Order: sequence, then structure tokens, then C-alpha cells
Amino acid sequence: MDKKKYVALVTGATGGLGTHICKRLSDDGYIVCANYRTKEKADAWHRKMTEEGYHFHMYQADVSDYDSVGAMVGTIHNDHGTIDVLVNNAGITKDGAFKKMSRDNWDAVIGANLTSVFNCCRHVINPMLDKSYGRIINISSVNGQRAQFGQVNYAAAKAGMHGITKTLAIETASKGITVNTISPGYVATDMVMAVAPEIRNKIIEGIPVGRMGGTEEIAHLVSFLASPHSAFIPGANYAINGGQHVF
Ligand code: CAA
Repeated sequence: MDKKKYVALVTGATGGLGTHICKRLSDDGYIVCANYRTKEKADAWHRKMTEEGYHFHMYQADVSDYDSVGAMVGTIHNDHGTIDVLVNNAGITKDGAFKKMSRDNWDAVIGANLTSVFNCCRHVINPMLDKSYGRIINISSVNGQRAQFGQVNYAAAKAGMHGITKTLAIETASKGITVNTISPGYVATDMVMAVAPEIRNKIIEGIPVGRMGGTEEIAHLVSFLASPHSAFIPGANYAINGGQHVF
């Protein structure tokens, strides 16, 4: 099957996971639309990717803003046609003990990690339904499946993401669309490396595989779920955490 005709949108493309997801989908033959928020970082990233031989199409939008996402999706539709694969990967942390958590840190994390999924799904879903094809992959977290001290906001968003996955999956399953969640454990991205080394090392000691995950290992699972051959998998939540949380 000629995958060249498939268009993929990856949100938060310039981050650690996003970069490898874009590379893997490009290697698989997709037209890759890379969403970013901050122009300066994105320009440097795009230059680096181009030097490495990757051809990504860059699209700015704040995924927590409904209208901003709508404008981006409209432009992508004009440029490349309907989006076939949406990877909701954008996310932030604002960790802190709940007793000190500010309303701003709650709103920011829920906006970027959960409302963003509503925004992006809502804008791509009707064209996918019209085309009777779609793959939506929501990048959640092991910390949406278990507890992590200091992450009430993040855990709520990441658990909520799978709530969207399950219901949207059954609403669209008869139309050739699959919606799934991937819940990565600790992967050596900037986000994880921002955790204080003594806390991070303790967490790594609790991972049975004995190491953090690789970004390419998460991208491999995205590639699998994005495939047209994964048509019989709606509404699943794939744990990929080195055995840190087995249930
Ligand atoms: N367990 C139990 N108690 C803890 C604790 C812990 N892990 N950490 C702190 N405490 C206690 C402190 O002793 C303190 O107690 P008292 O009030 O009695 O003195 C209280 O909780 C508050 O402590 P702090 O002032 O240190 O709390 P803080 O608001 O600064 O936050 C923290 C601490 C920064 C959240 C720290 O616990 C931490 O870094 N935790 C790890 C968070 C984490 O794993 N984040 C993952 C980011 S990457 C990611 O999210 C990607 C992914 O999907 C996996």
C-alpha cells in the first residue's frame, strides 16, 4: 500500500517524543505535519531535521486554544488534504505538591494536556468520518495510570485523555477510525530530565527493565497503531513503561 497518500499531524513535534514520532512516521512514508508552539525553537528544530534529511511541514498552533487549532487544521487540509493520522503528543508538566498547587498550574496543565486533545480531535473528526478513515493516537503517561507525588494536575489530564479515547473510539469505530492511548513510562526527554536527579534515580531503580525508555521505542508503538493494518484496535491503552506499573 502506498502510504505517501497518508497525512499525519503530530502535536508538540519539537519535543523529545515528538521528534522521534515525526521521524518514524516520515520513515514509514507519511506526509508529516509538525505542530509547534514557539517559533524560535521550531525554526532551529526544523533546520536540524532538514540537515538530517527529514522533510517536515511546520504548523504553528497553541493546542490549548480551540480556534488556533481550527486555523491550523484548516491550513493543513488546504495544503495536503484530510488528516489521516493525528498524534496528540503535546504536553507540559507543572509539578508540585497539591497543597501548594496554584490554580494557574492546574489550568495550564489541563489546557495543554487534556483540552488540547478535545480541540485537535474535534477539528479532525468530521473530515475523518467523511473519509471513513482515521487513526488518533493519544500520548498519555504511566502517571495517568498510577500515582506520582506532585502530579495531581498531570495525572488528572493524562487519565482524562484515556476517557476521551475510550468514548471517541466507540463513537467512531464503525467508520474506519481507531482511537487509542499510549501510556509511556519514564523516557529520557527534557521533561523527565528536569526532575531532580536524586528523585529521578529513585524512580529508575523501580523500573524492572533497569533503564528509562527510548523515544524510538515509543515511536515504534505509534507507527504500529497508525498503520492501516491496526484497524481492529479501537479504544486500547498501551502501557510501555519497562514494567514500572504492571496491572
Ligand atoms: N513522597 C512523599 N513525600 C514527598 C515527596 C515524595 N516523593 N516529595 C516531597 N514530599 C514531601 C516533602 O517532604 C514535604 O513534606 P512537608 O510538607 O511535611 O515538609 C512535602 O511533600 C512538600 O515537598 P516539596 O516542598 O519538596 O514539594 P514540591 O511542591 O516542591 O514538589 C516535587 C516536590 C517537585 C513534585 C517532587 O516530589 C518531584 O519532583 N516529584 C517527581 C515528579 C515526577 O516524577 N514528575 C515526572 C515528570 S516527567 C513526566 O511526567 C513524563 C511522564 O509522563 C512520565
